[in-house]
Amino acid sequence: MRVFNITDKTSEQTFVCRENEYVLYAMQRTGIACIPIGCKGGGCGVCRINIIAGKVDFGPMSKAHVSDEQRKNGYALACRVKPRSHLVIECAPNLKARNK
Ligand code: FES
Repeated sequence: MRVFNITDKTSEQTFVCRENEYVLYAMQRTGIACIPIGCKGGGCGVCRINIIAGKVDFGPMSKAHVSDEQRKNGYALACRVKPRSHLVIECAPNLKARNK
């Protein structure tokens, strides 16, 4: 199984994520939490990140929280993406969604 390094540009911390693991779960496992942890199922939108570099496998995501345009620009829900290379990410929580 492949393992990738994920660097959070905001905190400059790096954590490890397995290829079959969602980024949010790896973040939580290593104690790095620059985004809130919500439903863990792609529905609440609070775990939004911006993928600055690297490749990911996108799982189903609510367009209410990540529009097609945002997705093209690298936005994703951390609980719905698995790494396919080393990544550089930036946390970009959708706080509006959290307050709904
Ligand atoms: S935790 Fe709810 S969408 Fe990711």
